Amino acid sequence: MTDGGALRIDKAKSDEVDLLAQLNRQLDEDEPHPYPLSLPALSERMARWIAQREYEVLLFRSGDQLVGYAVWRADEHGTYLRHFFVCRDRRGQGWGRAAIQLLCREVFPKDRPVNIDAAIGNTQGIAFWHAVGFEDLSLGMELKAGAALK
Ligand SMILES: CC(C)(COP(=O)(O)OP(=O)(O)OC[C@H]1O[C@@H](n2cnc3c(N)ncnc32)[C@H](O)[C@@H]1OP(=O)(O)O)[C@@H](O)C(=O)NCCC(=O)NCCS
Repeated sequence: MTDGGALRIDKAKSDEVDLLAQLNRQLDEDEPHPYPLSLPALSERMARWIAQREYEVLLFRSGDQLVGYAVWRADEHGTYLRHFFVCRDRRGQGWGRAAIQLLCREVFPKDRPVNIDAAIGNTQGIAFWHAVGFEDLSLGMELKAGAALK
């Protein structure tokens, strides 16, 4: 799809769904999700996102080596980057910075803000977003409706 020198971004294909589900599971482990899906459910969702184009699913590669993946779509606020993941053995080498730079330069609409959601406990992920220039915007909160309010 696009080539930024060492890093390349490819659109994911339907036969890469199982690989993407494995990466999604690792993302859920690294940024613990309050309602994690099973591996088959992650595969099913990934397949739907690709087949029905609900999201654009992208793989980052350097040569034939996998570097990470991203999932995004345009919404009413701008560009919503739902998943962003660098493979564990590739971290701390500048790939994440290279990937978000390449996405902003070659993939995302230039005139729209890029939004991400970070889990409050994901301090390393938050440090990354701050380091590449993202600014804090909101704080998500939740309460089980059936729980007693204090
Ligand atoms: C967050 C993530 C994408 C960073 O990718 P990466 O390739 O390791 O990041 P880079 O090497 O490009 O780092 C760029 C800058 O981010 C900051 N940074 C990256 N990882 C960091 C960490 N663990 N702790 C503190 N700062 C960090 C540093 O300032 C770094 O610049 P420097 O190396 O010059 O100091 C990767 O760790 C990841 O995939 N984590 C799990 C998934 C995740 O949390 N995704 C984000 C969900 S909101």
